[in-house]
Formats: sequence, structure tokens, C-alpha cells
Amino acid sequence: MNHRLTIAIDGPAAAGKSTIAKRLAKKLNYTYVDTGAMYRALTYKCLQKNVDLHREEEVISMLHQTKIELKQADDTQEVFVDGKNVSDVIRTQNVSNHVSIVAQIKEVRKEMVELQRQMATEGGVVMDGRDIATNVLPNADIKVFMVASVSERARRRLEDLKEKGEHPNLLELEKEIARRDKMDSERKIDPLKKAEDAVEIDSTHLTIDEVVKKILKLVDERIG
Ligand code: C5P
Repeated sequence: MNHRLTIAIDGPAAAGKSTIAKRLAKKLNYTYVDTGAMYRALTYKCLQKNVDLHREEEVISMLHQTKIELKQADDTQEVFVDGKNVSDVIRTQNVSNHVSIVAQIKEVRKEMVELQRQMATEGGVVMDGRDIATNVLPNADIKVFMVASVSERARRRLEDLKEKGEHPNLLELEKEIARRDKMDSERKIDPLKKAEDAVEIDSTHLTIDEVVKKILKLVDERIG
């Protein structure tokens, strides 16, 4: 019997989704798909090309001239824009500050969602994002909605960025995270929202291992 499940992990910015999704995928030998990276990749290209992000037709035109690819690397996923590996540069604060503007454009979402669905057709996938359980994979076998307090999320993001040599201010990070959540939750198309049948996990006081364990338990229950 084929037990290769599809696992959807949604939640607000910096809630630890990608760390958890990566660990899970590794443990289960599944493919990890970071959908945020696709929106970030297009945002990065637009910023590079000085596209005015508030002019939708310009962003859409850039979308049509851009090749975005996700490739599985050992423990992670790598992102390529027009053949160039942009996995690191799409995580800068500048991209984070602008990505929600790009992600609210209907045509952009339509193309990204199509690609995301293609990647999940065979099962054996852990996909993280904002609208995976509600829109991309409404029939996912397991749906998790991860939350954590804004201050804890900002603290974790600060640690991540420090490791990469960026030194943003904690208060600024809190503001950026809160602003992004607001835009992502209030946008008209496929907003960030907990699916009715998703299991909510608050990771504010949990370690990565504890969260992974909880989800593996859901997997065991599902497989029987
Ligand atoms: O997950 P990450 O923080 O990298 O996502 C970056 C941005 O991409 C989000 O703030 C959101 O605007 C957008 N996004 C989205 N739908 C997804 C994943 C990400 O709109 N499924």
C-alpha cells in the first residue's frame, strides 16, 4: 500500500514552518517544498530589475520573463531564478519587506499554485506556506497550522539573520513580521488562514524536536 502522504504546514511569518518541514521531510524521506521561496524569488528578481511592485502589470510581465525552479538538495531545497542559485539572497530583509506585495497579485498566485500542485501529485511531500491546506492542497492528508508569539518569532528570525551576517534591530523585525502577517491575512486572494480541519500547534514554548514529534504522531495515526 502507498503510504506516501501529503503534509501541509501553514502559519504566519517566521513561525518555524520551514525548519519543521525540512526535519519532517528528512525523517520521512519525503520532498520538502518551500512555497514562500517562489514568491521571494520573483520579488528578488523584480527588485533587481527596479520594477515598481505596485504596478501589477510590470510584476506580471516580469513573472512571464522569469524561470523559477525549486531543486532538492541534500537536506533542503534550493531555489533558482533564470538558472542562478538565489537560495540565500531571497532571505534578506529587503526581500521580506516587499514579498507580500508581490504575493497578493492574482496572476502571480495562479502560476505559483499550479507549480506547487504539480510538485505534490505523487505524494510524499511536506509543503509549507500560507494557503497550502486551504487552497493548494485542500485534500492534504495532514494539515498543520503553526503559530508562535510575534516576539518569539522575531527573536528566532534575528538569530537566523545574525548567522547570515545581517544585524537587524529586534523591534524592526517585530514590525516587519506583524506587517507581513497583516497583509497576508487581509489580502483578497487565498489569505493566510487556518483550515477548519488543520491541527494548530503553538511552538512558542516548544523545541523543534517537540513540534516534529507531534507531527510524526499525526503521521503515525494517519498511516495506522
Ligand atoms: O514563508 P515565507 O516567509 O518565506 O513567505 C514569504 C511570503 O510569501 C509570505 O509573507 C507571503 O506573502 C508569501 N506566501 C504566500 N503564499 C504561500 C507562501 C508564501 O503568499 N503559500
